[in-house]
Amino acid sequence: MILVTGATGVLGNGVIENLLKTTPANEIAALVRDESKATDLKAKGLNIRVGSYQDKDALASAMKGIDKVLLISSSDFNDRIGQHKNVIDAAKNADVKHIFYTSVSIEDMDNSPIKPLLGDHFETEDYIKASGLTYTFLRNNLYQEVVPMFVGENVLETGIFFPSGEGKVAFASRADLAEATAIIIAGKGHENKAYPLTGSKAYSFSEIAQELSKISGKEVAFTSPEPAVFAETLKGFGLPEQIIQMSLFFGAGIKNKDFETTSNHLENFIGREPKKLTDFLREVYGK
Ligand SMILES: NC(=O)c1ccc[n+]([C@@H]2O[C@H](COP(=O)([O-])OP(=O)(O)OC[C@H]3O[C@@H](n4cnc5c(N)ncnc54)[C@H](OP(=O)(O)O)[C@@H]3O)[C@@H](O)[C@H]2O)c1
Repeated sequence: MILVTGATGVLGNGVIENLLKTTPANEIAALVRDESKATDLKAKGLNIRVGSYQDKDALASAMKGIDKVLLISSSDFNDRIGQHKNVIDAAKNADVKHIFYTSVSIEDMDNSPIKPLLGDHFETEDYIKASGLTYTFLRNNLYQEVVPMFVGENVLETGIFFPSGEGKVAFASRADLAEATAIIIAGKGHENKAYPLTGSKAYSFSEIAQELSKISGKEVAFTSPEPAVFAETLKGFGLPEQIIQMSLFFGAGIKNKDFETTSNHLENFIGREPKKLTDFLREVYGK
């Protein structure tokens, strides 16, 4: 039995959809923290297990009879490493055979300005390795779907104002990542491996602005402000401090070229070229 955590989220749901192509529904379990969000999964015949990453007792019950676990990194940054440790401990105690973890595709985390935000991915990896569990790390690059968050709702009118300099990102589509993850979980030969999963090409935000200009026929400018100016400007728009801090971390990490490296793993797993960022931008902004 395979347990997918974060099953009510976009990635987890996508992984389940893809697993169902090769694995009977009664061999897949979904960990959800709100059962009312799991009606569709239940209707498909999945085994629903209820619990949050904070609830050790619920996690112990959720791991019963499980051979493989996909731990989807928590979206709750409040002691995220503690949450992940609870899942890993529960898997270990239940003699789970293989854990898969959605990590991040950054080569030199120790020298990255984004370490305070995302360093816990590698702490989680280290904790899994120390547990002795067989593992596979899915080191996902940034989703294409985060671009609209970084560039703002009215980007075609305002231009891009983001402190990412000329750093590039090998964005990947969440659907491609979900498909590759399901293929890896259902496949063989992935024991104790770490796969960077990225798009085939990296783009800077200045290139994204050029692409948006082409798509819209309007001049979309790109400005990379100093971080302090960026923070002040966002504060002026009334954005919450947490969002401002997160945007600053991502801007700094991208500027530091932490997300630039491409790899062909995603393409090899899904057996076709991953979705291009330009196609994603055309879908979102080409209406
Ligand atoms: N690479 C990127 O660009 C990128 C961008 C955003 C996020 N991420 C990371 O990738 C993960 C998956 O992405 P996604 O798009 O699927 O995110 P998502 O749609 O927000 O889904 C997150 C899932 O995690 C569950 N979850 C959150 N905190 C939990 C907790 N304490 N206990 C149990 N379940 C918990 C959520 O449950 P509920 O439905 O109950 O909320 C949801 O099912 C995110 O959680 C985040 O760590 C990566």
